[in-house]
Formats: sequence, structure tokens, C-alpha cells
Amino acid sequence: MAYRYLLGLGSNLGDKKSYIDKAIKTLEENGLRLIAKTNPLVTEPLLYHHQNYFINQEILVDSDRSPHELLALAQRCEKIIGRTQRLRYGPREIDIDIIWWSGGQIRTAELTIPHPYARARYFWRRALAELLPAEKDPETGISYASMASKPVRRVQDFHNKKAAGEKIAMVTCYDYTFGRLLARTSVDCVLVGDSLGNIVQGHRNTLPVTLEEMIYHTRAVRRALPDTFLIADLPFLSYQSSVRDAILAAGRLVKEGGCDAVKLEGGSYFKQTISALIACGIPVMGHLGLTPQWILQLGGHRLQAKSKEAQESLLHEAKALEEAGIFALVLEMVPSEAAARCQRELSIPVIGIGSGKETDGQVLVLTDLLGLDPDFKPRFARHFAKLGGQVLQAVEEYNQAVREGSFPSAEESFFSREDS
Ligand code: KIV
Repeated sequence: MAYRYLLGLGSNLGDKKSYIDKAIKTLEENGLRLIAKTNPLVTEPLLYHHQNYFINQEILVDSDRSPHELLALAQRCEKIIGRTQRLRYGPREIDIDIIWWSGGQIRTAELTIPHPYARARYFWRRALAELLPAEKDPETGISYASMASKPVRRVQDFHNKKAAGEKIAMVTCYDYTFGRLLARTSVDCVLVGDSLGNIVQGHRNTLPVTLEEMIYHTRAVRRALPDTFLIADLPFLSYQSSVRDAILAAGRLVKEGGCDAVKLEGGSYFKQTISALIACGIPVMGHLGLTPQWILQLGGHRLQAKSKEAQESLLHEAKALEEAGIFALVLEMVPSEAAARCQRELSIPVIGIGSGKETDGQVLVLTDLLGLDPDFKPRFARHFAKLGGQVLQAVEEYNQAVREGSFPSAEESFFSREDS
């Protein structure tokens, strides 16, 4: 029985393209039937950045071999072509990965298909969308065609996305474990929001969050997402007091937290601060509309810019921030028409939350998106899952298993006679 496979070929040593061509030839000589291939793409190294650029190419093949047999063949081919063992994720003559196969999902100690990073690596997303557009990702049920988005690796990519008319999908994240999961998705960028004051710390608002806490969470998220564009919030009173304070706070978020950019709330009053940060090499994302750090002044989480005058002023403020050099603007809880006007009149992307769909992208708090708190759902949010209920069920099942003695089982226990 013939299976269909998508294989990823990559090289960043010597004559890269000739290594890839040799790999295709060797695989064909070993019985794989070539169905289609993508155009070779020059890509930047991931994870371990101090190495040469890669050339990546993906091939769609048919084979009677099982996935484990194909893995063994791929490893043999790598050896034949001259791959030598070096640093993991380091330079290599050739790398052959199984990205997808027609048999669905496989998860064993040696092999995971679809490849855990099939959705996250844009060159593999591109290949899946191009060569398997009708297929749905077996892990998520989402069509590969919908994942073929341009990558966001640096600040200029935000402009590229807007120019290409591609929506930007951004989520918040506060810790390593959820970061590891996000690292396996096609999300465009991640925000370590000061909403962690509410979500993680249980405060009534974001005002108590400190710079130290923002750095702590940003570092944890960065460890999980080494290659994702990461933005961190400047917390309350870390930037409002002076330009110098803003530079020092943003500098610490970049140096110690490892983020790629900072976000700050507020309008034209902060033009000088934004210009100074950019002059120091720190990209800045703006945030207008409902600005939670002004909650005491605003009197609650209310829709902003309702009147015609307020909408004119919002646009004026947004343009001032654009002029100061922000690379993107978050617009929170403003009427759809007001957000749409900003989207049209600004050259930078407008990323909405509670501001309708006519923006260049959306941001959502991860716990809202996951439905972790079944009793909390702002009108503008959507629970794409109901994880809160699953957590309750899992913990009650655990409680029951402990009480009745069915957990742990013999397989989940160690015995003194065992070797390891
Ligand atoms: O802190 C946060 O999570 C935010 C988003 C809601 C945009 O600022």
C-alpha cells in the first residue's frame, strides 16, 4: 500500500542546493516516487542563530515504506550524503524531516508526525498549504491552506503583513508551559501583557504589576519561544515618569527579559518617549482606546471613543504615535467604525481587541481564548476551547483515583529490583 509523505530537506553547509538535490536523488533511488516539490527557499537559522543561512525545500513523495522505515531510510540517506554529527540544531550538510504523511497522527519515542513544528515553521506551513491545500492538520482539524501566512521574525515584517493584506494573529502568554504550546502553532507574535496582573496574580487591575515581574514572566515565555516575535508590556509607572525611566525600563525588558519590542499605553503625550526608545534601538508598539493603566481615570472597562469628537481625537492620537515611530498599534474596546478608520488611515498595522474585525489583526488574552475561566467571557472575547471544564474534570478524576487507590498503577511506580 502506498503512503504519501511530505518531507522537508534543509542544508546550511557547503553547496547547500547540491546536498538537497543529492538527497532527492538518493531517496528516489531507494524507491520513493516524487510527486511534487516546492521552490527552494533561503531561510534563517532557528534556535541556534550563530550559523549560516539554510536552503529549505520540501518534496511530496509516495512510498510503500511505513513511517519508521522511512525514518530509517532518511537517516541512512543523510549519512550517505555526508552529514556528520555536530551540535543539535547546529550546522548540517543535510537534514531530512518527515513533516506529514497520509496515515494521520503518530507519536512514538522516535517519531512524531505531523512534525511537532509543522505549523510553526513558515517554510513547512508554506509547503503544506501549497502541496496539500485540501488536507486538514490531524492534530487541530484546521486546514493547511489557512496556515500559509508570511512569517513575523522582525519588526519590518509587521509592515509586510499589512502590505500583503494578511491578518496578524497575536495572543498573550505569561509562562513557559503555555509558551511551549504556542511554539507549536502558527501564531504570528506573542505579548507578555501586564494583564498578568489580573490573570496570574489575581489583582483587580494591572496597576500593581512591577517591572521585575514583567521581566520574570518575559524570560519564562522567551525560553519557550526562542524564535517568536515577543512583545512585553511596560508596566504602570515604569515609563510615565520620565524618558530616562522609560529607556531604563524598556532596556531591562529587552536585555533581561529577551523581548523584541515593548508596548506602552497612551497617546501623543508619549511621543518623545517613543522616539527616544526607538533612537535607542527598542521597537515600540502603541496601545490606545481602553488603556487599562488609566483605569482609575476611566472608571472601568468601558467602550472608548464613542462620540464623533472622541473618534477624531483617537485618530489624531494614533497618527501622532505613528509619526513617533511605533511599528504597530493595539486598539482596545473602540467601536468597529473607529478602528476601521484608523486601519485605513495608518500605514502601520492596527491590532484590535474588542474593536471589531476591520483591523489588520487581533490580540486576545490566552486564558480567554482557551476558556480557562468558564465564568469569565468579555463580550468581545471568544472561548475557542472550554479548558476550564476539562481542568475541573481532570482534577476530580485524579482525586477519585487517589482515593480509590487506582493511581498510581504498577506501571506508574518504581520497584527496588528494577535497573532504572
Ligand atoms: O496586557 C494585555 O494583555 C494587553 C492586551 C489585552 C492587548 O495589553
